[in-house]
Amino acid sequence: MTQNIDSTLQENRLFPPSPDFAANAQINEAQLLSLYKQAEDDYEGFWAERARNELAWHKPFNTILNSDNAPHYHWFEDGELNVSYNCLDRHLADKADKTAIIFEGEQGDTRHISYAELHRDTCRFANALKAEGIEKGDRVVIYMPMVPEAIVAMQACARIGAIHSVVFGGFSAEALKDRIDDAGARMLITADGGHRGGKIIELKQAADKALAHCGDSLEKAIVLKRTGHDVTMQSGRDIWWSDATEGACDECEPVWVDSEHPLFLLYTSGSTGKPKGIQHSTAGYLLGTITSMKWVFDYQQDDIYWCTADVGWITGHSYVAYGPLAVGGTIVVYEGAPTVPDTGRFWKLCEDHKVTVFYTAPTAIRALMKCGDEIPNKYDLSSIRLLGTVGEPINPEAWMWYHEVIGKARCPIVDTWWQTETGANMIAPVPAVVAAKPGSCTRALPGISADVVDEAGNAITTPDKGGFLVIRKPWPSMLRTIWGDDARYIDTYWGKFDNRYYVAGDSARRDKDGYFWIMGRIDDVLNVSGHRLGTMEVESALVAHPRVAEAAVVGRPDEIKGEAIFAYVVLREARPKGGIDEALTAELRGWVAEQIGPIAKPDNIRYSDNLPKTRSGKIMRRLLRTIASGEEITSDTSTLENEAILLQLQGKE
Ligand code: WT7
Repeated sequence: MTQNIDSTLQENRLFPPSPDFAANAQINEAQLLSLYKQAEDDYEGFWAERARNELAWHKPFNTILNSDNAPHYHWFEDGELNVSYNCLDRHLADKADKTAIIFEGEQGDTRHISYAELHRDTCRFANALKAEGIEKGDRVVIYMPMVPEAIVAMQACARIGAIHSVVFGGFSAEALKDRIDDAGARMLITADGGHRGGKIIELKQAADKALAHCGDSLEKAIVLKRTGHDVTMQSGRDIWWSDATEGACDECEPVWVDSEHPLFLLYTSGSTGKPKGIQHSTAGYLLGTITSMKWVFDYQQDDIYWCTADVGWITGHSYVAYGPLAVGGTIVVYEGAPTVPDTGRFWKLCEDHKVTVFYTAPTAIRALMKCGDEIPNKYDLSSIRLLGTVGEPINPEAWMWYHEVIGKARCPIVDTWWQTETGANMIAPVPAVVAAKPGSCTRALPGISADVVDEAGNAITTPDKGGFLVIRKPWPSMLRTIWGDDARYIDTYWGKFDNRYYVAGDSARRDKDGYFWIMGRIDDVLNVSGHRLGTMEVESALVAHPRVAEAAVVGRPDEIKGEAIFAYVVLREARPKGGIDEALTAELRGWVAEQIGPIAKPDNIRYSDNLPKTRSGKIMRRLLRTIASGEEITSDTSTLENEAILLQLQGKE
């Protein structure tokens, strides 16, 4: 197969940081250059110095990187530490009363939790886990609403060396069961329910269903009372959180583990097969979250940092439960949906809690953009100084809206490329130094050797020529393996180029300034008449049209062209009657042709009220491909947020 991924969409606007922001930032240009230089001159020494300075060690390490068993890499392996100690205990001397968590429930209840309180709650819960027989190395599945106790549960596992696996509360009983079984978990931590979208999410009910069918590894469930509605408790198996922690001691000596001890598993879907249990380490992982908090989020002591991700995703691990706490920060945790009681909720939270750094996903930005400027304009967003995005390339229109309407053209935007597997931000701007270009995640961070290579594994030096995004050298926060399937780890991430580089599975290009532009997943790349096109680029072009709110593009087999382009479009206005508007379709095709080139013109455009998304907001591309090719839907659509739109997508309504 020839890899000749052509890129035609060009975005040339450059947004340097404001002098104000730059003047107060933690890392200036000279400091950044010296970090790059050190990483270049002495890669291992660079990371060793960071590890010595940023982490509190129980036993210092001597070995920096062990590559004996590549592509299994061990970092700082003879050192000993504890993540919970690093996130909590080490702040007690000078920040015991500092607020660690500002929590707000969907119904408006709020709590401020100090470092001393979070430490106490974590110790008590860790003691409760120990009392139930949980030991170092045991797997504990966490299936919780987005409440502080979810973080307490994660920190408590880390404290005693148990390996947690958080399952997003929006996943079904079936998905929960599969993950419990794959991890061989002994314990489930859940809640009666949570509040989301004005409803109660029935977590315990789903957990009961999962537990009824899972294998016999699982012994006990601890259940937090969050909503207080009736749930059934199975005697001998289920224990209320309050009973489990009653009388538990406020102190719990951390279990010191070695650097490579698994901190957690987090399941993520691959392009094929069952979800992969991505296994992360202790020291290297935590280090990546800390360095990125400082470099990318310009962490400052008085920041109020709000990453809107749920702890069920890697973003909620690295930038809610671990990174911000490891640096002693104050985080906002919000339980509910952005639309309750109305679509101003995020902006109201920013105003009420004086959020300074706000980090969210492009899908959320686009959804909120659709609601109109008058909603955010009602709120005082002047506390915000830095904005971030993650999860997919942000289309320039949404970027501009985020920049102007939310950031008031004052705040840099950090577009952060990374993955569940990378543990922490990899390609992202250092905001006071690297000027942004809307839609680009800019440059690799110090100590991260990202590159774009061709099918043969050679670096692509021609600007804007697409290829495979790879990381040339191992880095501390990388995944260690896939739980229970090491062969799949090697095959998925290293096989393509003979174990020489980590293959991210994304296609990307670098522009003439060396900036990275993510073009989509490799399997989302279209081949139209021998030209490879990123689906994201066509989507971006469509969304640039004033009447288009959202678009998803997939390929469908075409006898003559190889692949034809099929676009699903959500308009800013009401959906055309019966889903047909030939004039608009012609206009959009012409529009895309103008933006990218005639080759990128969608062959089909179908209008729907919504795009099919998983609860986490990822567009279900495989489902769209199935529909586009006119095949029968056989895949499971139960995780669909909005199952009712299937008929529209199929052109049947
Ligand atoms: C995939 C990883 C890492 C947290 C959220 C998603 C895409 C992620 C960006 C970005 C363009 C991005 C990539 C990547 N992605 N961030 N800033 N620009 N694409 O985690 O579920 O592991 O997905 O998300 O395709 O491979 P994930």
